[in-house]
Amino acid sequence: MTINLFEPYTDKSEEKVVLDVLRSKFWASGSGVRNVGKFESKFKKFVNADDCLAVNSGTAALNIAISLLDLKKNDEVIIPSLSFVSTANCVLRNEGKPVFVDIDPNTLCIDPYKIEKLITKRTKAILPVHFGGLPCDLEKILKISKKYKIKIIEDAAHATGSVYNKKLIGNHGFAVCFSFHPIKNLGMPTGGLIAINDRNHKQFRRKIESRRWCGISNRHDDKYEINEVGDNYYMNEFSAAIGIEQLKKLNKMNSIRKKIAKRYFTELENESKMPFDNNCSYHLYWICVKNRNNFRKELYKNGIQTGTHYKPIHTFKLYQNKIKLPITEKIGKEIVTLPIHPNLTNKQLDKIISLSNKFSK
Ligand SMILES: Cc1ncc(COP(=O)(O)O)c(C=O)c1O
Repeated sequence: MTINLFEPYTDKSEEKVVLDVLRSKFWASGSGVRNVGKFESKFKKFVNADDCLAVNSGTAALNIAISLLDLKKNDEVIIPSLSFVSTANCVLRNEGKPVFVDIDPNTLCIDPYKIEKLITKRTKAILPVHFGGLPCDLEKILKISKKYKIKIIEDAAHATGSVYNKKLIGNHGFAVCFSFHPIKNLGMPTGGLIAINDRNHKQFRRKIESRRWCGISNRHDDKYEINEVGDNYYMNEFSAAIGIEQLKKLNKMNSIRKKIAKRYFTELENESKMPFDNNCSYHLYWICVKNRNNFRKELYKNGIQTGTHYKPIHTFKLYQNKIKLPITEKIGKEIVTLPIHPNLTNKQLDKIISLSNKFSK
């Protein structure tokens, strides 16, 4: 049997609520009521943000969060290149220009010491990614954002349940974007969420509500107004109901991930590997391997799935420019992600670790 790279973790509770929604005949609504509203308020309490708004993917969360900056053409957003492409696409979607910054080779998060020299009059935000769930150095990034009066929008797609300075991710930046893709720490069929931390959060709620539902605003019964273009980005009831159950078991699921990460960190002989940090949610566990193709082939032959997260965004055709990011480029050639999810057994882990050590030499 193949050992999957990622898998959702569910039990009878998800099965029950899915059936409840199915039978209720109320499967989706752009108005954010019922399970969607409940999930939002539970998640808000969990991360202790000023507000939380559910959407239908991490990509949608990023697209809407960047739209709140009202970018003018070619306004700049500083981002890492080692990420899923949505981190950059959301900037282009909003007419902005992604400015790539190199990463710290130990954490693979944005290197805060390289941000300041990239700031120009056009810089409107910094968009760090908590890579694999390991929180970025938010303290330094927050200092820069205050000094230059630019916003922080966090890509927390990997970081549901991660902690920074004793507070959950979701509590720090202006907007924090989560993904609840089925393989994420908190999984749903499709889903995402924007946590807002700002004293004008009520105003931002109104904007996000309209932008996630086709531009609809001022709705009373069946009357409403359209003042701007919006998308169909709202979360459905099945996802929200599953999300409520997943949130109840998130700590348990993340602690299993941490145990797996601890074993990888202590037993893998690779020189370059993801550090162990109790504050990390461990959506991913990465190692660097020089002979990556051969390594992955050998593990695959032995029934073990691996991944390459990610091909650096600035190396894709759409994003190619003259920028050199030596650490990102080196890591991009060597990175391999190993199976990590709450269903992994110790026996499977033994196999992954012993074969990884054998083939990464
Ligand atoms: C770092 C990062 N950002 C954004 C996303 C987009 O999330 P979604 O797949 O829910 O749209 C992902 C998804 O894999 C991701 O890994």
